[in-house]
This record gives sequence, C-alpha cells and structure tokens, in this order.
Amino acid sequence: MDKIQINGGRRLSGDVYISGAKNAALPLIASSILVDGSMVFSNVPRLMDIHSIQLLLEDLGAVCEFDDHTMTVDGRGIHKIEAAYDLVRKMRASILVLGPLVARFGHAKVSMPGGCAIGARPVNMHLTGLEALGAEIHIEHGYIEARTKGGRLTGNEIYFDIPTVTGTENLMMAAVLAQGKTVLRNAAREPEIVCLADALNTMGAQISGAGTAIMTIEGVKKLTPAQVSVIPDRIETGTFMVAAAATGGDVMIRGCVPDHIGGVISKLKGTGTDVEVFEDRLRVKGGASIKSVDIKTLPYPGFPTDMQAQFMALMAIANGNCVIHESIFENRFIHANELLRMGADISISNGNYAMVRGVEKLQGAPVMASDLRASASLVIAGLVADGTTEISRVYHMDRGYEGIEEKFSGLGADISRIKP
Ligand code: EPU
Repeated sequence: MDKIQINGGRRLSGDVYISGAKNAALPLIASSILVDGSMVFSNVPRLMDIHSIQLLLEDLGAVCEFDDHTMTVDGRGIHKIEAAYDLVRKMRASILVLGPLVARFGHAKVSMPGGCAIGARPVNMHLTGLEALGAEIHIEHGYIEARTKGGRLTGNEIYFDIPTVTGTENLMMAAVLAQGKTVLRNAAREPEIVCLADALNTMGAQISGAGTAIMTIEGVKKLTPAQVSVIPDRIETGTFMVAAAATGGDVMIRGCVPDHIGGVISKLKGTGTDVEVFEDRLRVKGGASIKSVDIKTLPYPGFPTDMQAQFMALMAIANGNCVIHESIFENRFIHANELLRMGADISISNGNYAMVRGVEKLQGAPVMASDLRASASLVIAGLVADGTTEISRVYHMDRGYEGIEEKFSGLGADISRIKP
C-alpha cells in the first residue's frame, strides 16, 4: 500500500487549481441512468470513487469513456437493474443508482451500504422517500429491492427528518420521471444538489427550489441527453485554504467558487488569516499566529463536516483553546488520535465534542489515515510538523483528492508518495 511522506516546515506559496467536485460528479454520473442516450460530463476529477461509479455503471450495461477530465456515459445499453455487493462495498455513494434505476425501470436491486469509519450512515430516509413515491421496498440477504406497481413512480410530499445530501439527490432523480408533482421538504441545500438540479433541468426535468429547503419536482415522461460541467470541489478548496493558513503561507486558490465555502472563509478570518475573495479565486495569507476559534459542523450553508478534520489540524497549532462540535456524524474524530501521536493536545468528550488546546509545534510521526478527510488533516499536520511524517493507508485520500502530492509540491511542500 502506498504511503505519503512529508518533511514539514515549509511555507506554502504560489497558485493551485481546484479540481471538479467528487460529490457533485458522483450523482451526475448516476443520473445518466435516467437517459436513453449519451451524457457528456466535463471537469470530472480523476479519483478512485469516480472509477468505482464508472465500473458500476458499466456493470449495469452503460458504455463509459473517460478521457482526460471528460466522461461520456451512454446509458442506452443499461439492461441490468442490480448493483452488486462487490461494487457497492467499495463506495457507499453507489446507493445513488437506486433512485434513477427505479425511475427508469420501475425496479432495482442495490446492495445495502454498510456503515463506515465515520458512522453508521443509515439510508432509511432514501427508502421511506421511495416508498412515498409508490415503490415497495424489501430488504433481503443484504440487498434493497425496490419495485413499483405500474412501472412508474408517483409524485408525493416527502419530509426529511434531517437534511440528507445523497438522500435528497436519490429522491430528486427518482421524482424527475414520476407521474405528477413531488415536494421535498427539509431537503439538503448543498451546492452539489444545485449542480444536479441544473443538470437534470438541462436534460428536460422540471425542478425548482434547489438550494433551498423546499424543492418541487414536476415529473416528466422522458429526459434527453446533455453536456454538463462538474462544479469545483469546495472541500478541496477549503483544504488548501487551511493548509495555507497553517503553514503561514501565501496561496492563490484558482478555479473555485468562494460562495460555496463561506463557512470556512468566515472561520479562517476569525483565526487571523487574511482571506481575499475574488469571483473564482481566493488568496489566503497566513498570519504570524493563529487564533483558536470554536466550530460546529452543520448542513450547508453551515460549517461542513468534510472540513472538520482539516480544521482540527489547524486548531492543534493555534494560540488558545477551542471546542469542535461534530454534529453530523457520530464517529468523525478518529484523526484526533493520530494528531495526538504528533504532539497535539486534544480530548474528546460526549463523543461529539473535541477540546483542542493549541500547542507550539507538532512533531512528525508515522500515522494512519482512517477516512478521506482524516487523511487531509494528517497531510496538513505533516506540513507544519517538525521532521518527517509518514501517512499510511493513503488509498483513503486517493478516493477524493486528485493529484494531492503534485498540487502540494507545486506550492513548495516537501511531499512524496512511497510505493511498496
Ligand atoms: N442519515 C440518516 N438516514 C438517512 C440518510 C442520512 O440518518 O437515510 C444521517 C446520516 O447518518 C448523517 C446525516 O443524516 O448523520 C447526514 O448524512 P447525509 O445523508 O447528508 O450524508 P451522505 O449523503 O451519505 C454526503 C457526502 C459526504 C458528506 C455528507 C455530509 C457524498 C457522496 N457524500 O454523504 O461526503 O460528509 O454528505 O455533508 O456526497 C466525503 O466526501 O468525505 C464525505 C463523507
């Protein structure tokens, strides 16, 4: 298994370009199932998770081509309605094929995603939503089977107990081809939802209210193929912002949408970091010292849970103490134990609160990544630590950060990949 080695202590400086968002690309690619034709996606990041969804669609019968950052998905050959365990277990977001498969074929069988390192991550709201649209759901031998009576879903009111990102996306994709009107209440409002709604509308869907808590979807009979561009990755943007701040660097982050990362900009400014906002770029200049700030993760537009681990690495070397409250996932502090091994002073209470007491210096150490964002947190810690940090299990990072070593090396970091 590959490892990442970092010799810490270098200030980051220069320009970095942000890739397309993994969490926008995944539902977009899944939406190809809805169309009897060929979809073209540009600005698709080259990542393991994208490879996983491509393999899944190919297994269903789609013909995919991925050239540079453009993916073509021809859904005409899709004949299979079953997403197998071996493919789904590699990536929970595979559940995103459930809604479109039932919408197009009236029947789908998708392996039930299990828990993962950050929490149990149930999909109950995806399933009750599909039931509300008229699907009968059975869970048997680890598979979710959804079947409609007349072959077509029927629009209905759906209320989410808590905003769910992939749940909202799944039900949007289910409802676009349903008979009649669907209203999604307490829907997730993430930019990735808006990106998917825009794409579906370009394909002929009638969705309004995306980006607000109430979305209305008038079902249509058919969608037509379209060309769609993936939005820039707001979490990659935030990761480089925090890395620039932590190293006292001066970094221009290009090709991003600052509007999508407002919660992180605001908190970073609170730490004393200078953040200049332009239309499609951000300049982040780290100050001489970093002030501690409290954070609480919340659904968009709140502070993203996907930035919590990276922010904890920054707070580990801040001046003062802070509380980080993780309110989305029940087990998203595994990186704290690895940061402790690097000399951080962090204690966890009630499972969801981390008290972080800033220390002057972290020390390089061998550490292990437990999930995607934890790996980014350890990279940031390695960049500021004294000496060498070796991060193992970087396959987690390869799921969601494109060319991470190249991008950080381009900013002056001493970072390399060690192959076994
Ligand atoms: N939840 C339920 N029941 C459901 C669905 C969700 O209880 O049926 C709970 C979850 O357990 C969690 C909360 O609702 O406590 C929110 O989870 P959500 O469904 O929004 O998460 P997700 O859709 O599975 C997406 C991203 C995650 C990101 C979360 C939160 C994708 C492919 N994944 O997951 O991204 O952390 O939203 O913003 O979009 C990552 O990229 O590293 C990552 C984990």
